[in-house]
Amino acid sequence: HDSPKPQEKAIEIADTLINYASHFARHAAVWATRWQHHDITIEGALDDQIALRFNLYHALIATPRHKPLPIGARGLSCQAYQGAAFWDQEMYNLPMYLYREPHIARQLLLYRYQTLDGARRKAQKHGYEGAFYAWISGKTGDELCPDFFFKDVLSGRDIRNHFNVWQIHISMDIAHAVRHYEQVTGDWAFVEAYGAEMVFEVARFIASRVDYKPRRNRYEIIRVQGPDEYHENVDNNTFTNVMALEALKIAEYYWETLSETIKKGLTNRLGLTDEDRALWRDIAERLFIPEPDKNGLIAQFDGYFDLESIVPARKVTERLIHHEEYYGWPNGIAVFTQCLKQADLIQLFSVLPDRYTAAVMHKNYAYYEPRTLHFSSLSPSTYAIVAARLGKTEEAYALFKRALTIDLLNTNEAVSGGTFIGGMHTAANGAAWMMVVMGFLGLQVTSQGVALSPTLPATWRHLKTRVMLQGQTVEIDVSRAAMTLRNISVSPEPLTLRIAGRDVPITAAAKTIPLT
Ligand code: IFM
Repeated sequence: HDSPKPQEKAIEIADTLINYASHFARHAAVWATRWQHHDITIEGALDDQIALRFNLYHALIATPRHKPLPIGARGLSCQAYQGAAFWDQEMYNLPMYLYREPHIARQLLLYRYQTLDGARRKAQKHGYEGAFYAWISGKTGDELCPDFFFKDVLSGRDIRNHFNVWQIHISMDIAHAVRHYEQVTGDWAFVEAYGAEMVFEVARFIASRVDYKPRRNRYEIIRVQGPDEYHENVDNNTFTNVMALEALKIAEYYWETLSETIKKGLTNRLGLTDEDRALWRDIAERLFIPEPDKNGLIAQFDGYFDLESIVPARKVTERLIHHEEYYGWPNGIAVFTQCLKQADLIQLFSVLPDRYTAAVMHKNYAYYEPRTLHFSSLSPSTYAIVAARLGKTEEAYALFKRALTIDLLNTNEAVSGGTFIGGMHTAANGAAWMMVVMGFLGLQVTSQGVALSPTLPATWRHLKTRVMLQGQTVEIDVSRAAMTLRNISVSPEPLTLRIAGRDVPITAAAKTIPLT
């Protein structure tokens, strides 16, 4: 990207490197700043500290900093996934920047803005409107995910996987990330210049993708694939439907909040009218959202509970004929069972922490976790975050260790269904930060503000890090007995955090809160 002739450019640069010592000093200074931003110190468990830094380092080196470009799902560690971005980027890699270097989070979102046309082209290709983001997105945003991804290793025949057309939640995830960015940074200028346009185009896509069922007087989203990739062609995947509803609500919020001049300019340019807004509102009111049943359980998709239940999920592997067999669509060993590849409904609890009651989250966690194979590197970290927030600290810790060592111990299969999917797992690397800060420290954006509720694993004596909120840097220092918070910004401005249900002002003077 920096030059049309990269090799010549590299030689030209190398020629200027006449003083190794001074370049090394510059390099070290840059890394010192990176660590100042992103380091987390853990006292009491040196192995966790080292593994955490290993993951943070790999998350950092996989992120393009100089231009709006995608974060490869395997970074640049290998050819798998072509250096291209998945939803991993918004859900697993963006948060550590959002809370520490928001300009990098902004740039990642700008990448999605710059690839809007690719998303528009994809929507048109499939007969929809608005922005249908690519499942695998490279430079232009056009879909890079092939129709045939895996192979039936027994017959040697290609499998038609529908990640590219049915895994539609990617568009909603991007709308969610725009709002998350705006809530944490207060960067309204970004919303005006880019964010609202992305969100409106996503709302438009949703409006063209839902089906109205007259007999049931409701909208449904049929033929999709949720995050759990072993179940393709399902209807009303709860994660997808809820994220669609959230995206429509964000669109409504921006429509209402943007200044008249900005809104007029934008809606004129996009050809949006009050009728579009009315339709989005109608869909938001009547979109089918699966609710907890009498046992408090929410179905991952229509008919999920009718499938064979196998607990623990790993027992399903006894049915394999060949160790590289693909487990999913159309007739893999997981398809007609409740066994999940990765967090799906539980993903919602991580992304929208105060949408469900603690009781509902506990029940569903207890149901879905034993049925989850965790074969995606995205899965253990999501369960770890939710478990930590639910106070299941030691369970969270075991999952944390599992997620943290995916690359260090090379625990994930590098080949599935005849396709190489190995290399560094960049989402798991970013999730290392999330598990500590959003899990064990309990940092979350709720309807009542940004909240913190720490819980330390038994071996950890001390945890220290910093987060940035509304441009203010807060130092967080947690011991087993107390949490100390301090606004260490050069010019501290008023800032409050929700702690144990109360608004606590964070000032330049250290505030110590006992943890009981
Ligand atoms: O985005 C993920 C997906 O959720 C599971 N398969 C691998 C992808 C890239 O990491």
